Amino acid sequence: MLLIHSVSELRAHLVQQRSIAFVPTMGNLHEGHIELVRMAKQRGTCVVVSIFVNPLQFGPNEDFDKYPRTLEEDCAKLQGLADFVFAPAVSDMYPEQQTLYIEPPPIANELCGAFRPGHFRGMATVVLKLFNLVQPHIAIFGKKDYQQLAIIRQMVTQFNLPIEIVGAETSRAADGLALSSRNQYLSSEERTEAVNMYRTLTEAASELKAESKNLAKIELKASQTLANRGWQVEYVAIRSQNGLIQPAAGERKLVVVAAARLGKTRLIDNLEVCL
Ligand code: PAF
Repeated sequence: MLLIHSVSELRAHLVQQRSIAFVPTMGNLHEGHIELVRMAKQRGTCVVVSIFVNPLQFGPNEDFDKYPRTLEEDCAKLQGLADFVFAPAVSDMYPEQQTLYIEPPPIANELCGAFRPGHFRGMATVVLKLFNLVQPHIAIFGKKDYQQLAIIRQMVTQFNLPIEIVGAETSRAADGLALSSRNQYLSSEERTEAVNMYRTLTEAASELKAESKNLAKIELKASQTLANRGWQVEYVAIRSQNGLIQPAAGERKLVVVAAARLGKTRLIDNLEVCL
């Protein structure tokens, strides 16, 4: 496994590779990321993992500065799985001020986008840059960031990028909490409480299966359940799996998505439901 910091070195090493499977990350790797890398290893002859905390996708009051940076530990976890780890400095990714951005589709202004203005614009811009640098034939993203995945799929389709996008199932702790680098911000009491987002989504998913017409009622109940437990709920919503749009009548492939804060930590999760 080779750790590469510069764009020129990356290009020199990847130019001869035929079948690149790519996992973009912001580092602080947990089992969920490692599972994505294992999937990549099954699907490409060369596995590239990027580790880059992208300033463009953080708002002014978000956790860019305190986002955990653990490159050495991350590289140890990737030994034997990744062929190349690309960990550029901010000045390498953005040698000049980025004045051109990907304008993401309207869905980027809803759900998480309504609470994190500019987040998906910054995310889509860096993912396009990474795609251009790595030129993978396949890229793997976790379904935990469902909205991110939906936007990346649209970007790849609408810009005719020759990349297969694979969505990987969410990795969970034994109690059901979705794995996330941000879980480490939780105090031990908050960590105990955190599983209730998954439980609430599980309950909403069962209600949806039983009573698929009254989506607003299910959303409201789930939202109130979390709020009553002390969460600051941003949204609980039932959307179509396809592009996260409002489901049409009779839509069968749905997803319950949620975002809420527990203390200072913002958590997101979702569950797909097929009726
Ligand atoms: O999901 C993430 O870790 C990031 O949003 C990504 C896709 C690596 C872009 O910075």
